[in-house]
Amino acid sequence: MSTVWENEPFEPEESERLVSAEFTDDDLEIDRSLRPKRLAEYLGQERVKDNLGVLIDAARARDESLDHLLLSGPPGLGKTTLAGVVASELGVAMRQTSGPAIERAGDLAAILTNLEPRDVLFIDEIHRLNRAVEEVLYPAMEDFSIDIVIGKGPAARSLRLDLPPFTLIGATTRTGLLTGPLRDRFGMAFRLEYYTPGELSAIVRRSAGILGVGIDDDGAAEIARRGRGTPRLANRLLKRVRDYAQVRHDGRITEDIAAEALAFFQVDHVGLDRMDIAILETLASTFGGRPVGLNTLAAAVSEDPETLEDVYEPYLLQLGFLARTPKGRQATVRAYEHLGLAVPGDAPAQDGLF
Ligand SMILES: Nc1ncnc2c1ncn2[C@@H]1O[C@H](COP(=O)(O)OP(=O)(O)OP(=O)(O)O)[C@@H](O)[C@H]1O
Ligand SMILES: [Mg+2]
Repeated sequence: MSTVWENEPFEPEESERLVSAEFTDDDLEIDRSLRPKRLAEYLGQERVKDNLGVLIDAARARDESLDHLLLSGPPGLGKTTLAGVVASELGVAMRQTSGPAIERAGDLAAILTNLEPRDVLFIDEIHRLNRAVEEVLYPAMEDFSIDIVIGKGPAARSLRLDLPPFTLIGATTRTGLLTGPLRDRFGMAFRLEYYTPGELSAIVRRSAGILGVGIDDDGAAEIARRGRGTPRLANRLLKRVRDYAQVRHDGRITEDIAAEALAFFQVDHVGLDRMDIAILETLASTFGGRPVGLNTLAAAVSEDPETLEDVYEPYLLQLGFLARTPKGRQATVRAYEHLGLAVPGDAPAQDGLF
């Protein structure tokens, strides 16, 4: 019995994608404990941090609310975390909601009128606000006021309500989906970039310290290399490797143990899983290196085109393993090399993360 139990947590799960950057229930506990609270603990994104540091100091010195701030970038790079950091640095509370959660204009009015002066209001997935709600947000952002309509029909009256000055922080994975008027009302916009392996290593070491996991620098670097430039994912891999190291070894994470554990979970040495590999092999072998349209590729790997485009392609592009040409998708020189296949003469060359 006990043998079965010991092995149980280490069956790679078919249903859930370990290297998905999307938030899962698994991340809840780890997110709470590992989320940096101050700017100094927020590793990487140096340009963004430098800019924000100055703006925060200035707002604090003038005792004013910080300008509205738009954060964009792929899932798991630290947008929500950074919003929390900004609120702590300003010494104010953060109220958190999301675009889809605010259904009616009245819901937003209720949130806005309950803010304390200089508070941060964080709206995740801000590109998914509906039109009526967005229109309430414009004067709120611009003049710190909202117009409320009381009553119906001819008896309806409009009432202007003043709001305390506040800072709106909006987060989105897709800046392109934001309406122009909304985008224009943000005083500043920052795009978070994928983290370098060195930055991700530092994040893994910090997380291991908080979780009380023994890990050496090479062990952290090994996890970082496979973390797809994404802190959420690197932390999740660390947690899996920790479990593996405890049951199969003495608990300490070295480069060899990290590599062994991640091979077990079918995450390869640059963070690709079976689906990523299937995509590249399909391009390189099945279609013989010719450009392939998105729908054709999706059908060949039995995935839907949107998922392929939003979930799988960004990291392959980032690695320089995939080229998107007007004629279609192609595997690059780096992809052939990664797969250990002979590189055809006309394979596109591409720069990448590593
Ligand atoms: N710069 C960083 N330094 C250290 N840890 C970080 C950093 N950025 C993110 N993390 C870790 O990664 C986790 C995921 O970050 P976060 O939830 O802020 O991502 P997100 O960009 O809001 O993702 P989503 O688009 O899915 O909402 C956090 O819980 C935190 O532990
Ligand atoms: Mg978030």
